[in-house]
Amino acid sequence: MSDIEQLERETLAGVAAAETIAALEEVRVGALGKKGVISERMKTLGKMSPEERKTAGAALNVLKDKVAAAIETKKAALENAALDARLATEKLDVTLPIAPTPKGRIHPVTQTMEEIVAIFSAMGFDVAEGPDIEDDFHNFTALNFPPDHPAREMHDTFFFNEKDDGEGGKKRMLLRTHTSPVQIRTMMTRKPPIRIIIPGRTFRCDSDQTHTPMFHQVEGLVIDRETHMGHLKGTLEAFCKAFFEVDSVKTRFRPHFFPFTEPSAEMDIGYERVGNEIRIGEGAKWMEILGSGMVHPNVLRNCGLDPDEYQGFAFGMGIDRLAMLKYGIPDLRDFFAADARWLEHYGFDPLDQPNLATGLSR
Ligand code: PHE
Repeated sequence: MSDIEQLERETLAGVAAAETIAALEEVRVGALGKKGVISERMKTLGKMSPEERKTAGAALNVLKDKVAAAIETKKAALENAALDARLATEKLDVTLPIAPTPKGRIHPVTQTMEEIVAIFSAMGFDVAEGPDIEDDFHNFTALNFPPDHPAREMHDTFFFNEKDDGEGGKKRMLLRTHTSPVQIRTMMTRKPPIRIIIPGRTFRCDSDQTHTPMFHQVEGLVIDRETHMGHLKGTLEAFCKAFFEVDSVKTRFRPHFFPFTEPSAEMDIGYERVGNEIRIGEGAKWMEILGSGMVHPNVLRNCGLDPDEYQGFAFGMGIDRLAMLKYGIPDLRDFFAADARWLEHYGFDPLDQPNLATGLSR
């Protein structure tokens, strides 16, 4: 056997024996690299006679091509094997049931707001919003609170420090005590007919089992040419039935006073207590759930509307209170305690979107 044949046999055996890409690369460098055996052999051609060089050169070139081809083939095989191995470990059984994924819960206040919005949207109401930090004009004056009227104090208002109003006077901002200032903002910027609800945060300096310094209200406002108390009553009764998910609700309107409505009324709903449970809609007991009335002509005038042309009604209710009633939550302060266990118990599935077609809550 010539030594070229010998070299070929040894090199090809090395290629065959390589079990990894790295081992194969070593074989390649050992044979065809700059200092590889075959490359070194090529360098000896220069010292040969032309005759010798012709045959030896041809044989070496054949050898070089054979070895290179063998390495390419082996490399492809090794790469395929590596890919197969990876695919085997990355295999996914799509028929397996999904693992339980941790997910958050919707807070009862958010849930209740979404339910209220769903009900009033179906009746053709828009949702409007306004700032939490208000001025005296929108929170009181435009709503027909007389200057220095005790009603301003009645609201236990959180006031900010006084500052210059930019017109030589003083001004103190406040945290809105109700959502009613957004009535003003809406009537001043939109032309009737107006049909809106205004959910949002409100603030009063008060704290016990049924009062927190921050709470939530939803305001309703309807302004049109021929709106009357019957519309107010019908709207609120329809709302109560839908919200409490019952076929009928006993309601009662009691005369009341608000500076911004005339006449004004508070609405009570009938309920009874059966054991630990509160049943809404029936029974001999009454519970106050909202304030309401016909928008006062002065308020319409303050917003540039002519009371001889337009009338309307407004109402305001406490969202937290409605949530407590509907979902049997005893203490309001827990709503804002950020206790994950409480939320796990009273919260709602984020995938259940309240809507009238499939039910508001489950
Ligand atoms: N703003 C009143 C309150 O907070 C509620 C209300 C709104 C009453 C609209 C009448 C009309 O007590």
